Amino acid sequence: MSQEEQETRLEQLQEQYERYKQRPLDLSLARGVPSSEQLKLSQALINDTPITQWLSDDEIDIRNYGGLYGIKEARELFGSLMETSVEETFIGGNSSLHLMYAVLNHFMFTAEKPWSQDATVKFLCPSPGYDRHWFMLEQLGIEMISVPLTGKGPDMDTVETLVSQDPAIKGMFVVPTYNNPTGETVSDEVVDRLAAMTTAHDDFLIMWDNAYVVHHLYEEREVVKNILEACKYALNPNRVVQFVSTSKMTIPGSGVSAIGASVDRMQEIAKAFSKQIISFDKINQKRHVEFLKDRETIEAHMEKHAEILAPKFEWIDAILHAFFGEEERSHFVEWTQPKGGYFVHLTTQDGCAEEVVRRMKDIGVHLTDANAAYPYGNNPRDNSIRLAPSNAKLDHLEIAMEALCVCIELVTLEKIELTN
Ligand SMILES: Cc1ncc(COP(=O)(O)O)c(C=O)c1O
Repeated sequence: MSQEEQETRLEQLQEQYERYKQRPLDLSLARGVPSSEQLKLSQALINDTPITQWLSDDEIDIRNYGGLYGIKEARELFGSLMETSVEETFIGGNSSLHLMYAVLNHFMFTAEKPWSQDATVKFLCPSPGYDRHWFMLEQLGIEMISVPLTGKGPDMDTVETLVSQDPAIKGMFVVPTYNNPTGETVSDEVVDRLAAMTTAHDDFLIMWDNAYVVHHLYEEREVVKNILEACKYALNPNRVVQFVSTSKMTIPGSGVSAIGASVDRMQEIAKAFSKQIISFDKINQKRHVEFLKDRETIEAHMEKHAEILAPKFEWIDAILHAFFGEEERSHFVEWTQPKGGYFVHLTTQDGCAEEVVRRMKDIGVHLTDANAAYPYGNNPRDNSIRLAPSNAKLDHLEIAMEALCVCIELVTLEKIELTN
């Protein structure tokens, strides 16, 4: 584009933006929550799943106290998602995040050698990652070190160097399948290297948050190698604690979460939890088992979610393509085309993301804070925007995306002007 063409284009965009400002929208692509259409897929869980059998398969009265680990049939069901045995599977309440916090809290304060005895406790944070992971680490006073992602999981050269040198690094988070927000899935090689790497801290912990384990959008599915088996093979059986939940399978407000780990690790965690709770909601566990049945039924149920979700992802891709095209793409914005999960990640030109999100807010479209996917919200390149399309209707998504394209081009061109 010549200087003159650029100026004309900038004027057009500024006029268009002013029009948005005069008639502000009221839309949000901020949080990855299921739409009400998706929630309806599990209405039968609430309305038509009567419980007739109060004794679990391992003879626990599900109405009463007891069964801290969860009922056997739920442990089997969630074990089928994490590829863990019944003994390696623990069932929690409606939030895996809550379990993650409780696990970290244990290692920090109540473990045999609590991390808090050290002057500094650090964690590796593959970024862009999930902002709520970073919030919990920050709250627990754990120093976060951002490590890059490669499209196939964390950059293992960086990870291996850091963990081999610094005993203050006690662990790391990984979202192995369809990472929030980049949508990438960890390769087999990364699984093996994580399981086998030499760590300066002798009891290194991998928080393996497999929140999107069955959340495929298409028939072609990304499946992660079994990390617990890889850890056992590398003689580090206690290294990994896995998490899953039904939040985005059934209903997040009243779902079921689970942990998978070696038997020793699980016993240690359960012992710590026993000081906080007698047992989680076993009636809901039973109801979920009745409704979801087995992995095959879960996968069939997730296909119905995909039918609702996939068009939204395709719409985002189509609008970005129509606006920027292949050539302009590299000048303005790169975007992901995930095969599953809940998010599209945008990489803007350096120094543009915050301003784009601010401009969007000023015209009534709420996005997740720019760079929130980085620890402390601190991304020196200021180029990261996360889109969460699940709860938007297609026509609203179109309006929001068109406004976003205008803001991206406008902010980028203004920035080029400023630097010229
Ligand atoms: C990576 C990841 N983990 C966990 C959660 C939340 O899980 P839960 O509802 O089980 O607490 C989310 C929700 O967006 C997520 O993206």
